[in-house]
Amino acid sequence: MTMQVISVPSAPFAGQKPGTSGLRKKVKVFSQARYLENFVQAIFDTLSGQQGQTLVLGGDGRYYNDVAIQTILRMAAAAGFGRVLVGRDGILSTPAASAVIRKWQAFGGIILSASHNEGGPEGDFGIKYNLGNGGPANEAFTDAVYRRTQEISAYRTVESPAVDLSRIGESRIGAMRVSVIDPVADYAELLESLFDFDRIAALLSRPDFRMRFDAMHAVTGPYARAILEERLGAPAGTVVNGIPLPDFAGGHPDPNPVWAADLVAALADPASGLSFGAASDGDGDRNMIVGPNFVVSPSDSLAVLAANHALVPAYAGGLAGVARSMPTSCAVDRVAQALGIPCYETPTGWKYFGSLLDAGKATLCGEESAGTGSNHVREKDGLWAVLYWLNILAVRATSADVIVREHWQRFGRNVYSRHDYEAIETDRADRLMDELRARLPQLAGSESCGLHIAAADDFSYTDPVDGSRSERQGVRVMLDDGSRVVFRLSGTGTEGATLRVYLERFVADPSQHEVPTQEALAPLIRLADAVARIQAVTGREKADVIS
Ligand code: G1P
Ligand code: ZN
Repeated sequence: MTMQVISVPSAPFAGQKPGTSGLRKKVKVFSQARYLENFVQAIFDTLSGQQGQTLVLGGDGRYYNDVAIQTILRMAAAAGFGRVLVGRDGILSTPAASAVIRKWQAFGGIILSASHNEGGPEGDFGIKYNLGNGGPANEAFTDAVYRRTQEISAYRTVESPAVDLSRIGESRIGAMRVSVIDPVADYAELLESLFDFDRIAALLSRPDFRMRFDAMHAVTGPYARAILEERLGAPAGTVVNGIPLPDFAGGHPDPNPVWAADLVAALADPASGLSFGAASDGDGDRNMIVGPNFVVSPSDSLAVLAANHALVPAYAGGLAGVARSMPTSCAVDRVAQALGIPCYETPTGWKYFGSLLDAGKATLCGEESAGTGSNHVREKDGLWAVLYWLNILAVRATSADVIVREHWQRFGRNVYSRHDYEAIETDRADRLMDELRARLPQLAGSESCGLHIAAADDFSYTDPVDGSRSERQGVRVMLDDGSRVVFRLSGTGTEGATLRVYLERFVADPSQHEVPTQEALAPLIRLADAVARIQAVTGREKADVIS
């Protein structure tokens, strides 16, 4: 049955430029007539060869997810897709979407998510396109989509009643099949193939081991229940805040010590009886790992996972290499050196890991922003990281804090923190970065706050596989002793600009490992303000969020 494709006249909206991870805007912006349609049409216009192919579609369940899914289904039919695999209730976590694209060899996928940003009618919404490898489209593609949004004059759709997404099964929109799939099954099966589930199950049944997984009212609730409680036998109630809500119960589903303060507090309280805590974000790709009275820094987590790869079935054969985003601490570099494997340094954003993973150059990847993952999918993966930690804990029979401290003893500690200045007026933030860039030539070799700056530059990256260049990826100020301060503006915010200042100092001496992080970094914090004139330009005396 063919359906008549309707061409609806439209006109460009300004600012439909995908950022670090797709297009993110307020729900209010996305829900304007033709706004979502224009962007989806720009994606479809940028593709070629999708006729008769399979598209994967799902999102983190945030407010507007359900409306957007129905719109995109109709437009996919108009674009000539042969089939759409859509998660039940429109749900697919980001790593699960990646797993489904790969398993079913789909042409690509559309993921609806604004990750850890607030949800609800006043909150944020987002959309991104993933390629057939399961990973976010590269910059060449997203640039082309942006160009298309600036010249769009119509979008194409069909008339068709809403698809019932509440039940698994098949239906059609014209010639296009719509398959509503279990959002968890393919993903859970993949994770089970990577880890030693028997050993993890044994750990979870021990009376002296109790874990809590906080799904933060976001998408990972059903995934964590199915995997931790049903498949691995963790006691009921291990997963908390496990029902996904369109507004995440009013919180930020961002697994860090600020937004997951309850979990951190529970692990700091011996009366809770908890020995291990974990959390994931809005769309399930980030993770937080908490030991007794100890929050594992994401950069350390990546290094620990790499150093302990031999304990995990999927990685026991060895790692081809590791990769980290530039602002992520160099802790994993030290592990790579000890293992004799390459360590790649990429710009911020998971899309840059894709080509390294596809080419078999990297096995594990990670970012300081609580993202870790491997070549099993092409997204970062929150529950994957939690299961990796559980696998290590099960084999080593000790706690997460002990594992990290022993890691520091062996490799030294890369003391690390990120300071975020949020919702700065855009022109002030731009001015700060412009002026800082202009000062770069004078910075190298200079003294500031009693510290000697060895080098300073604006990070640029050449992809070692396809040779593509990415410029202006963050200003780095490097000291003689390997300490660094990195400055960049966030590419995921929806309000003004967010300045991120990343601070790192290497401490070899074990007697100094317990010095509180902000204290250990105090000289660098002063240096950051001096070289970037943060207070003078933004008027801010201190960061809004310190993680
Ligand atoms: C942030 C993180 C980055 C991550 C991205 C998507 O981007 O810093 O590591 O890949 O979210 O989750 P930013 O806002 O810094 O551009
Ligand atoms: Zn996310």
